[in-house]
Amino acid sequence: MDKPGRNDECWCGSGKKYKKCHIDFDEKIEEFEVQGFEVPDHTIIKTKSQIEKIKESAVINIAVLDYVSEHIKAGISTEEINSWVNDITYKKGGVPAPLNYEGFPKSVCTSINNEVCHGIPSKDIILKDGDIVNVDVSTNLNGYYSDSSRMFCIGNVSEENKALVKAAKDCIYEGLKQVKPWGFLGDMGQAVNDFIKSKGYSVVREVGGHGIGLEFHEDPWVSYVSKKGTEMLMVPGMIFTIEPMINMGDADIYVDEENGWTIYTRDGKPSAQWEIQVLVTDDGYEIISY
Ligand code: MF3
Ligand code: CO
Repeated sequence: MDKPGRNDECWCGSGKKYKKCHIDFDEKIEEFEVQGFEVPDHTIIKTKSQIEKIKESAVINIAVLDYVSEHIKAGISTEEINSWVNDITYKKGGVPAPLNYEGFPKSVCTSINNEVCHGIPSKDIILKDGDIVNVDVSTNLNGYYSDSSRMFCIGNVSEENKALVKAAKDCIYEGLKQVKPWGFLGDMGQAVNDFIKSKGYSVVREVGGHGIGLEFHEDPWVSYVSKKGTEMLMVPGMIFTIEPMINMGDADIYVDEENGWTIYTRDGKPSAQWEIQVLVTDDGYEIISY
């Protein structure tokens, strides 16, 4: 870890001397590190002013998803959702983070039924009664990133699919109970996994959450097949997403060979996902985007 001298200014931007600011905090992290735990470095611990700017980005992200939730219905195309997301984000001064991200061609991901994630909007894909659809929105505002997604039930959805959608949401709140400083990401991951298993569903292993804020995807990678007491130490100022993908059948997935993006369940059964962006605070967590 890169540490200032005792009398130098603290790395956190407070303007205080290091010895009067984050010195004890850094030493506490080092104690975990010498014990062999994975720990965050300063590049992924956000300062107060960075947190403020990331929250401003999230205000747009939330507003976009609120608009989608008020207007989504049977008969519209996923391309229409893409243009809502695109237009609102630019109007509010942001840029849709998915657009051109590693070649992604659209401004939002729309994943329906057996699509696990990274569905590409198209004028040919029309939402129909009974569909369950994930809309995953990510915003870049002046270089600060936010990311969250919600599920939508279109018209009359089967009880079975409704239960899947509910469990995918509930498991996030089970995981959140474990988000606190000086705990481990694996505490959260195991809580999500235990809950999902108890419902008879499975959790996708290969795709997970991520650190976010100064980049769209930062360390750490956030797994939901992790174990209590493992994975990265959580400390105040870390921001990451919780976005487990929950399959009604088994956990196996495959990637669309033609577009290289869209992920499907291997068995063709439905999958559901909600995503929140969370900040680790001094005494727990704060949800930044949902
Ligand atoms: N929330 C998704 C993720 O973090 C958003 C993906 S956007 C894409 O993976 F451009 F990568 F598809
Ligand atoms: Co994400």
